[in-house]
Amino acid sequence: MCGIVGYIGEKDSTPIILNGLKRLEYRGYDSAGLAVLDNGQIEIRRDAGKLSQLEALVSDTPIHGKIGIGHTRWATHGEPNARNAHPHIGSTGEFVVVHNGIVENFLALREELSAEGTEFKSETDTETIVHLVEKFFASGSSLEDAVRKTLKHLKGAHGIVVMSSREPDKIVAARVGNAGGVVIGLGEGENFVASDLPAILEHTRRAVFLESHQMAVIGRDRVKLSDIAGNPVTLHVQNIAWDPVAAEKGAYRHFMQKEIHEQVRSLTDTLAGRVDFDEGRVMLNDLNLSTEKARKIKKIIITACGTAAHAGMVGKILIERIARVPVEVAIASEFRYAEPLVDEDTVVLAISQSGETADTLAAMEEGRSRGALLWSNVNAIGSQAMRIADGCIAMQVGPEIGVASTKAFTAPLLDLYLLAVYLADLRRVIDPDQRFGLVNDLMGIPALVGTCLDREEAVLGMARRFKNTRHMLYLGRGINMPIAYEGALKLKEISYIHAEGYPAGEMKHGPIALIDKAMPVVALAPDDPWYDKMISQIEQALARGGEVIALATDGDERIPELTEHILWVPATPWLLSPVVTSIPLQLFAYHIASLLGLDVDQPRNLAKSVTVE
Ligand code: F6R
Repeated sequence: MCGIVGYIGEKDSTPIILNGLKRLEYRGYDSAGLAVLDNGQIEIRRDAGKLSQLEALVSDTPIHGKIGIGHTRWATHGEPNARNAHPHIGSTGEFVVVHNGIVENFLALREELSAEGTEFKSETDTETIVHLVEKFFASGSSLEDAVRKTLKHLKGAHGIVVMSSREPDKIVAARVGNAGGVVIGLGEGENFVASDLPAILEHTRRAVFLESHQMAVIGRDRVKLSDIAGNPVTLHVQNIAWDPVAAEKGAYRHFMQKEIHEQVRSLTDTLAGRVDFDEGRVMLNDLNLSTEKARKIKKIIITACGTAAHAGMVGKILIERIARVPVEVAIASEFRYAEPLVDEDTVVLAISQSGETADTLAAMEEGRSRGALLWSNVNAIGSQAMRIADGCIAMQVGPEIGVASTKAFTAPLLDLYLLAVYLADLRRVIDPDQRFGLVNDLMGIPALVGTCLDREEAVLGMARRFKNTRHMLYLGRGINMPIAYEGALKLKEISYIHAEGYPAGEMKHGPIALIDKAMPVVALAPDDPWYDKMISQIEQALARGGEVIALATDGDERIPELTEHILWVPATPWLLSPVVTSIPLQLFAYHIASLLGLDVDQPRNLAKSVTVE
């Protein structure tokens, strides 16, 4: 996950930035860099690899200055080397930029700028930003306005921090969407900027969080906030508690809410370094998979518990449809007692955010003892499930503290999609056009999730309306059936409301008897191949006097005729729709539990890591 730190004041910015980057080290990175203004000149040091390499470089060739910006990177465009590391500098050497997010239209921008004579020094999307800022500055704008104009040209979600020797008394920062936050730390005669609070907490407890579409001009003694259109915005200063855990929570009431909002970033990071959008390729190097081995696989058994098993159910559809490999989903607590049919041409793939779930580890051991190839999709780096596997896809979500899993649910959905495309490529079951199409569909996903998050207020309204219900039924079909299970699990575990997830087609075989006014039905009816079937399920529930909350795609005209309770989601390629449909259901469960005044982050009887059978 990328991290940003910046400083302006009277002290030497280099150690402050390096220390700040160290605080973000737990997020992992593949390269790092910093730029300072040294006697009116921008000086940059960048290197691939761990932060210690950058520290060694800075110690060999020191740079000092009272204003500077730094970055740790996970590659999205261009391999992780020193040239592609941030900060990126413009052609005149007077502007530098660090950036979190993906410039979705960077190819078009790069072509445009190249046609105007700009020479690119890296393969990154970020470099387009610094050239745009430089161009607008050259045509007479202030640094602030040049950044503002640049933002209007960028597609996607971004956190951006810019510095220039032409206006050496400020740092300009901006946030668009949810590709990570931008927080400003206020000091005495000095100010800080970072992507995450821990990077600046040792210096100040007074913080201002930028909302989406806001920007800040940060001077030594003054911070000016505005929206992207240029309208002034009042600074809302928050005093952060000393408790480092509370500090991590930032502007959110609960970790769960924070983690739900972190998904644009976690999904961006999930793609980073693994997807080459230019080549239309996926690389999962840590699976240690040769083409020969990939072609030998006869079956994949995904094993997991709870939320992770729901991700596995989506994965089954993805891998079977895209890579044409048969997949079974085995609940981990059952697997070792089931005499499973496993041999050396079988892969056992365990999904686990903690990597320490006793049942999942036992299922992996069962697979190992029967000769299977073992893979894991794990969030906790160094956990048992990662250590014992032959290959791993590490989730890129950072620590998840809320007991109810949210960002560690959507990340594996993308991981499994990547796996499906990777396997399909190695096994030569898709042609290049299909591969490009599948990879291209990924690019917009973080932004679509951001759109869902921007609609939180509407979900809160729905939560207010239904918070006192005692039972709820969640229905879905096809690729969104597991999302119905997951939506129900989220609700029951944190709100203690009885909720059932059910395959919608099974309703008529029994559960339909339950439907009445006291049993609202959440029906997942996005624009996917099962849409028409879901419409008839909604009609059936309504015919029995049920109240239906429908999840529908923007522009749907049939659903508003059936129900007034609608959670809208943006149009999404259907194989990726579960990533998007999960978001309103997570928010719905969260807000109901929060409105009921419950302990959202630590619900009763549950633990974050279930290390007993
Ligand atoms: C629900 C939840 C649990 C876990 C399950 C497996 O929100 O978090 O259902 O998904 O206990 O945990 P991991 O992923 O750590 O193996």
